[in-house]
Amino acid sequence: MAEKRKNFTSKLGVVLAAAGSAVGLGNVWRFPTEVGNNGGAAFILIYLLCVLGVGVPVMMSEFLIGRHTHANTITAFSKLAPGKWWRIEGVAGVFVAFLILSYYTIISGWTLYYLVQSLKGSLLVSQDYSAYFSSFVSNSYIPLLYAVVFMLMTHLVIARGVQSGIERFSKIMMPLLLLIIGVLVVCSFGMPGAGTGLRFLLKPDFSKVTASVVLSAMGQAFFSLSLAMGCLCTYASYFTPDTKLVKTAFSVCSIDTFVAILSGFIIFPAVFSVPNVNPDEGPGLVFVTLPHVFNTAFHSLPLLGYLFSGLFYLLLLLAALTSAMSLHESVTAYVIESFNIRRQKASALVSFCCMALGVLCSLSFGVLSDFTVCGLTIFGLFDFCASKIIMPAGGLIICLFTGWYLDRKLVYNELTNGETVPFRMFRVYVFLIRYVVPIAIILIFINELLG
Ligand code: PHE
Repeated sequence: MAEKRKNFTSKLGVVLAAAGSAVGLGNVWRFPTEVGNNGGAAFILIYLLCVLGVGVPVMMSEFLIGRHTHANTITAFSKLAPGKWWRIEGVAGVFVAFLILSYYTIISGWTLYYLVQSLKGSLLVSQDYSAYFSSFVSNSYIPLLYAVVFMLMTHLVIARGVQSGIERFSKIMMPLLLLIIGVLVVCSFGMPGAGTGLRFLLKPDFSKVTASVVLSAMGQAFFSLSLAMGCLCTYASYFTPDTKLVKTAFSVCSIDTFVAILSGFIIFPAVFSVPNVNPDEGPGLVFVTLPHVFNTAFHSLPLLGYLFSGLFYLLLLLAALTSAMSLHESVTAYVIESFNIRRQKASALVSFCCMALGVLCSLSFGVLSDFTVCGLTIFGLFDFCASKIIMPAGGLIICLFTGWYLDRKLVYNELTNGETVPFRMFRVYVFLIRYVVPIAIILIFINELLG
């Protein structure tokens, strides 16, 4: 028999679990990379607008769908629209969470490897970091070994369930993560390039803003806030009737954005402290540029270098773990409830299948790198399908569903806990969800197709 459904036990648990899902590699790795590629502060401003105008309303919609139905994402849509095709969004959400988890685990495994190497002291020796990174990721076994360890960590949390797994570990890991960020920001501000780095982050240059910058900001907001993947919907199904949905959505979006910007405050002062290193290094920023920066900047103080790099990769690992937990739970909840099997069995099944797919992703950096579909490696293909197609399409369906299909009274009741919590901006929310967000998402699509 499947377990009885449990809820989160405290408000803090709710916020930290949902923020744990949102805060991930997307904040510490992807956000600074996007800022670097898209011209610094102007991108950040546009990003903030996207979070407020798109992120918050879509998150509120996911919360209300999950909490109203108290079910996994697929069942949630079936319950609200029996016999209708809206269910497809639930299916897409669970599928894409599975897909993302398979490649997210591989990158998370890399962070674990870099953490271990920092602690062993072998990362901070002068070397060609680009060659170091390439030879690591193209190896057929070592990245997989680390990915398996990472998946095992995620699995152990999910197998323990909602209260003693997700809630308990989020309450430990998130404060630790925030503490590490604080320490790293202070260290980074003490570096010689701090002034230049901060100027890069804080002085907007609007000449760099193009349509594609706006679209990148929106894509980043979706990914970073874990939207349209069933994760937040699944977590919201464990919220209690008195959880304030609007307030929780604002808190989660604020924490996520705060962490993303602080990650910029950690990375750019460090990057600008070393000559001949550019802020727009792309995805290699964290695995190629930063080790070089740590090594050079702390050459005369190697102990501080170990501390800084060790803490940095630990931060990345914790962030990745809390996000992977939510991706895993999105799929596991579906398996438990649909096939009526025990949590331990369901989560083991999900971990195993995801890892099997992850093997292909990992090998696509090495022996399978020549195997491409439409010019994309397996890893690239998964990422493309997930973040460029299924995720925005899912966001669009969620908006149309809550904005146009669901009964307005039901939506209002859910967001105000049966009219006990005031929500003065309800009309603004409806306007955003009905018109602004769908149009914005359709524009992204057109741009992708034309681009
Ligand atoms: N939001 C996570 C991050 O920023 C990634 C993620 C996406 C997690 C979707 C869950 C669902 O890394």
